[in-house]
Amino acid sequence: MAMAGRSGLVAGRRFFLGGSSGSCTWMRGLSSWWKNVEPAPKDPILGVTEAFLSDPSPDKVNVGVGAYRDDNGKPVVLECVREAERRIAGSANMEYLPMGGSVKMVEETLKLAYGEDSVFLKDKRVAAVQALSGTGACRLFADFQRRFRPESQIYIPVPTWANHHNIWRDAHVPQQTYHYYHAESRGLDFSALMDDVKNAPNGSFFLLHACAHNPTGVDPTEEQWREISQLIKAKGHFPFFDMAYQGFASGDPERDAKSIRIFLEDGHAIGIAQSYAKNMGLYGQRVGCLSVLCEDEKQAVVVKSQLQQLARPMYSNPPLHGALIVTTILSDPDLKQLWLKEVKMMADRIIGMRAALRENLENLGSTLSWKHITNQIGMFCYSGMTPEQVDRLTKEFHIYMTRNGRISMAGVTTGNVGYLANAIHEVTKSG
Ligand code: LMR
Repeated sequence: MAMAGRSGLVAGRRFFLGGSSGSCTWMRGLSSWWKNVEPAPKDPILGVTEAFLSDPSPDKVNVGVGAYRDDNGKPVVLECVREAERRIAGSANMEYLPMGGSVKMVEETLKLAYGEDSVFLKDKRVAAVQALSGTGACRLFADFQRRFRPESQIYIPVPTWANHHNIWRDAHVPQQTYHYYHAESRGLDFSALMDDVKNAPNGSFFLLHACAHNPTGVDPTEEQWREISQLIKAKGHFPFFDMAYQGFASGDPERDAKSIRIFLEDGHAIGIAQSYAKNMGLYGQRVGCLSVLCEDEKQAVVVKSQLQQLARPMYSNPPLHGALIVTTILSDPDLKQLWLKEVKMMADRIIGMRAALRENLENLGSTLSWKHITNQIGMFCYSGMTPEQVDRLTKEFHIYMTRNGRISMAGVTTGNVGYLANAIHEVTKSG
């Protein structure tokens, strides 16, 4: 049958069946579908890992992504996770989880944020679902906010984790920023932050990092948290906490929940994104939780039903394996103790590396102050280096980090700290 020259319509687009020899090609259709698509910009954090991986240099160092490494620079699987995997091997079927995920995992996770004996949990006032780690929890909340409070904006600190902007942008929530970091003191710009909270329209949403602020490593003091909480309450704002690093600030997940507990004492309605990427090392398992504290149990049931309905067309239900690991660890007192010990061990190694990096820089005769390396907490040091200085680190020393000067202290080891300090000294000494 002669095919040459035939054309037709598919999904409203004209196609052409070309080829004088009778071969059937959809040339015009194939070439036109995506021709206007431009390459996406590189991700400012994950793009650093890609560049690191393609560098053949034996000297290369990756202090870009916030992922814990041991003192040999190797990824770590916690012993409590290994033991949980041994226990669950072959014991579970592969059925779907409910849309809201593992009920047991969510229950254990909420205790970490709200407190073991929380009255809010007892009264069933918390609507919560398993989420695809912290990113998934933030995104689910952003979509929820957009759907039910479409008129309100979200205030995001400057700076913040780069992906926060993407998450609320893609959920079509208008964004504003609030002051957070004070570059000169390398600390918190508390008065500017308070002014921004005060000047925001009543009933705005505020994104807060519960602990170990990413990227600055600068957290409010307890007293400052109390003042922030009071002002947010007086303005009728909604505080949404991203708690991606519980345990990484102090080494103790309970202490790191202090900011949230202050807000709970003050009677706020809050939202929380929790993640086990960092504190259980379950990066690729994508396991976390989104919770919203409601007025009463009835409202919590309604809110949960809506969160589930948002999840259903996106991914139906969350993955099983990570949830099983978390549940196994947190519901067994011995495994939980082992986890707490291992969290502290990770936090302590990072604290040790902060001291070593600062000491090395001072011993090299750097005239700059590096006190902030040890003053800041959590996984990151916001070094104060400029994008140009970071570019030199990469080009001349094969050291990979984000261009905002953030150093992932989790990638610093006794083996590379001297090399790193020397390179930082070289690129910062002339100005
Ligand atoms: C980071 O900030 O490096 C981590 O949270 C990893 C990520 O997904 O950006």
